[in-house]
Amino acid sequence: MSTSVKILGFCAFLCSVSADYWSERDAILKKEASRALGAHLRLSDREEKVNKILMSYKLKELDDGMLHPENFLGGQHFFKAKKGIERSKVFSIIQKLPKGASLHSHDTGLVSYEYLYNLTYMDNLYVCINSGPYRLHFFTDKVNGDCEWQLVSALRRLNSSFDDDLKKRLTLAVDNPYVAYPTTNDVWKAFEGIFMAVAGLLGYAPVWREYFYEAMKELYEDNVKYLEFRGILPEVYDGNGKIYNQYEVVGLYYDTLKKFVLDYPDFQGAKFIYAPNRKVDNKTFHEYLEIFEKLKRGYPNFIAGFDLVGQEDLGSPLSSFIDELLIMKQNGTEFFFHAGETNWQGETPDFNLLDAVLLGTKRIGHGFALIKHPEVMKLVKHKDIAVEICPISNQVLKLVDDARNHPASVLIANDYPVVIAPDDPTFWGARGLSYDWYVAFMAMTSRGDDLRFLKQLAMNAINYSTTTGNQREEVYEQWEKDWSTFLEDVLINDNVIG
Ligand SMILES: *[C@@H]1O[C@H](CO)[C@@H](O)[C@H](O)[C@H]1NC(C)=O
Ligand SMILES: *[C@@H]1O[C@H](CO)[C@@H](O)[C@H](O)[C@H]1NC(C)=O
Ligand SMILES: *[C@@H]1O[C@H](CO)[C@@H](O)[C@H](O)[C@H]1NC(C)=O
Ligand SMILES: *[C@@H]1O[C@H](CO)[C@@H](O)[C@H](O)[C@H]1NC(C)=O
Ligand SMILES: *[C@@H]1O[C@H](CO)[C@@H](O)[C@H](O)[C@H]1NC(C)=O
Ligand SMILES: [Zn+2]
Repeated sequence: MSTSVKILGFCAFLCSVSADYWSERDAILKKEASRALGAHLRLSDREEKVNKILMSYKLKELDDGMLHPENFLGGQHFFKAKKGIERSKVFSIIQKLPKGASLHSHDTGLVSYEYLYNLTYMDNLYVCINSGPYRLHFFTDKVNGDCEWQLVSALRRLNSSFDDDLKKRLTLAVDNPYVAYPTTNDVWKAFEGIFMAVAGLLGYAPVWREYFYEAMKELYEDNVKYLEFRGILPEVYDGNGKIYNQYEVVGLYYDTLKKFVLDYPDFQGAKFIYAPNRKVDNKTFHEYLEIFEKLKRGYPNFIAGFDLVGQEDLGSPLSSFIDELLIMKQNGTEFFFHAGETNWQGETPDFNLLDAVLLGTKRIGHGFALIKHPEVMKLVKHKDIAVEICPISNQVLKLVDDARNHPASVLIANDYPVVIAPDDPTFWGARGLSYDWYVAFMAMTSRGDDLRFLKQLAMNAINYSTTTGNQREEVYEQWEKDWSTFLEDVLINDNVIG
């Protein structure tokens, strides 16, 4: 037998073996891709054209990132990446894209940092400087005697370093977060300090109204037309010495919402989840329950449900309030629990996930630890419980460093009911939903995941909101209209690659 025949024979054998190999490999890849969030959507011709543009931008950023990992924005700390993200073409498309709804954010962290900082230029704002976090408060008559209150405008005039100092105390953003916040507890301490500082700034009734109006306006400008947000209902005061109780504070929200919808008729509304601090005893918890009942009776269409907030690692777990929570459940309360916002596997806070699911939570806030609980994962999928992922929050609060390591990648690859939300965008310099959506799209999906992913995220946001009946239909209708406008806009303005 000549060598050439031998080689031919060998190839015939090997080539068919390798063909099998490649087709098996292909089949697995196809199967995997078909399981991802959004993969089952079929794009229209117009959507395909937009997808091509979007993907040319995405792949360019990824390819550049592979060559120069130090340039890859999706993997960087947000404080470093922010400016670059704002120049990204993927980001500009995400900003235009109608994102359906914002389902996880908090009362005093809803607006852009710029807006918050601007509020410190209002008349009659005073600051109390002591060893702890600054406190801010408006006094129109005379200041109260519990601190040596100083007029902010006067301090700005007298002390050139005061303004810089104040600016820094209203944000977690720093040049080097790894030095500023060595552990989760350090960053949470700074985080809670900001909440204390802004309480008296935002809790001034005239500010409270405008602030919430601005929150909806910024969402609207980010192409988000429906909001479900959480709040602790802090004390609100006015210049006449009136203190608004929780019920009245909800009233302020409600009136502001009505005003906003008059001004922006295509905004689809907002609902509120009462979410007070989890680090309390049974007596305080019982008061929460009474407040919640009263709110629900007074504003049945505005109050969506109940949750508890604060650092899970240090607060009371859900299991320490089980008896009362079960009564609430029996009474028809809808829960939207924060759960699994922790890296401590098998420790007390880690079991909040299980309790949340057993208590029938409608959605899970964060669910960062979910993938470590295979049985809870099954329940989440089976019961169709949405997981509200907040990528930038999780990074800033030190659960994960590089967003490509975010565990929600696993949920996205398996089409779990995921929504992407901003948590407290004010305090890390984000605005609306687009920054978190950008990080999710660039760092937490596979290279080939495309417009279908983003479209499904938007539909998930509407689908897992508490809207029902006519309202849900209207939200969808508005979104479909906006989707069509979005496609048109991209085709006109980004269609430079032909
Ligand atoms: C903050 O104030 C500056 C200066 O007045 C203004 O240009 C800017 O638009 C304001 N930003 C927000 C978000 O209100
Ligand atoms: C000016 O403000 C800075 C920052 O708040 C403070 O550290 C410093 O003591 C102040 N200086 C004076 C003279 O009060
Ligand atoms: C509330 O009471 C229950 C039952 O007495 C107890 O197990 C639980 O630890 C208490 N919760 C808190 C936060 O103290
Ligand atoms: C349960 O709901 C009823 C009817 O709204 C209310 O009267 C009662 O106070 C609630 N009980 C608790 C424990 O919340
Ligand atoms: C909305 O959720 C339901 C299940 O709750 C599901 O059957 C439906 O396909 C979802 N719709 C979209 C557009 O995702
Ligand atoms: Zn949250």
